[in-house]
Amino acid sequence: MRFTVAIDGPAAAGKGTIARAVAEHFGFAHLDTGLLYRAVGAKTMVGVEPIEAARTLTAEDLARDDLRSAAVAQAASWVAVIGEVRAALLDFQHAFAARMGGAVLDGRDIGTVICPDAEVKMFVTASDDVRARRRFEELSGKGADVTLDGVLQDLRERDARDRERSAAPLVAADDAVRIDTSDMTIAHAVEAVIAEIEKIRGKV
Ligand code: CDP
Repeated sequence: MRFTVAIDGPAAAGKGTIARAVAEHFGFAHLDTGLLYRAVGAKTMVGVEPIEAARTLTAEDLARDDLRSAAVAQAASWVAVIGEVRAALLDFQHAFAARMGGAVLDGRDIGTVICPDAEVKMFVTASDDVRARRRFEELSGKGADVTLDGVLQDLRERDARDRERSAAPLVAADDAVRIDTSDMTIAHAVEAVIAEIEKIRGKV
């Protein structure tokens, strides 16, 4: 059975954690599409041209252990503006979404561009302060040299660039269910998304 769950939203809203937990709960496959852009961004940091980087992306590129850094996130958000970079990553995402047994994809444009026919679409948000705090804790917990203010600025810059670009801008699909996780634990947000999926699964 094909069943696609699209989870979009701004930076560090909890999409990845929610997507992973939901996929595990239902036994679906999970793709963090941000990792694709991060891997392309990381290649540009060593001089590879962005479109070429996207067209030649390998499994090893996706397995690099520095992809979650703030510097790579910024590079990702710059390459994500380029239509040809996005186009080069389309087939992989489409094939992943169409796999049998169910798939959860998280990103910015899953419900709008990649999988406009997804059975479930969620748009996950949280206040800037809450998102910055969560990401600061994640990065500093890994020993990164970051400040709360620096993280907040990084998120705001990337969100603005993601919203204002012409290629697949960050915007909720009209039929997406919105969840604001500012005052929720991630566990609570996971429960809310699972409940939403259960509701729709009963109908398909
Ligand atoms: O983890 P976080 O939410 O901070 O970022 P990410 O999901 O790993 O995405 C990194 C960057 O890739 C974002 O700032 C976007 O510019 C870009 N991206 C995108 O344009 N489209 C996607 N489907 C996923 C990520």
